[in-house]
Amino acid sequence: MSEINWEELQGSAVAAMKKAYAPYSNFPVGVAALTEDGRIVSGCNVENASYGLGLCAECGLVSNLILTGRSILRAIYCVDAHGNALSPCGRCRQLLWEHSTPNTQFMTPEGPAPLSDLLPWAFGPDNL
Ligand code: THU
Repeated sequence: MSEINWEELQGSAVAAMKKAYAPYSNFPVGVAALTEDGRIVSGCNVENASYGLGLCAECGLVSNLILTGRSILRAIYCVDAHGNALSPCGRCRQLLWEHSTPNTQFMTPEGPAPLSDLLPWAFGPDNL
């Protein structure tokens, strides 16, 4: 399997972040992931006047993943407005887990880490 091009992923995440709709928090987020079939999927956060209904960037990414043919995520890069690696919220860790493996690499502020480090003892499809 090819090397993970983190710079390319970061670039895609930044491009997605620039399309975010975040007028309430002013905290645009973008996320991009490399799939096992070699594609890049991405997403941005989409907020709502009914604040609690806002969608995280990772929700958009998962929708894109399913809509464009499904695959397993190999590597994920989430960024803030400055393009810096952003730690995902708890709900989004669970959303990503569903379409990943424990060894899917997630870019943290300290470098890549396996998703199993971000969500230890995760609940997933195998538990059902
Ligand atoms: N946000 C994401 O899009 N993903 C995360 O993992 C963390 C938070 C968004 C939600 C909201 O639109 C904004 O960041 C501020 O919380």
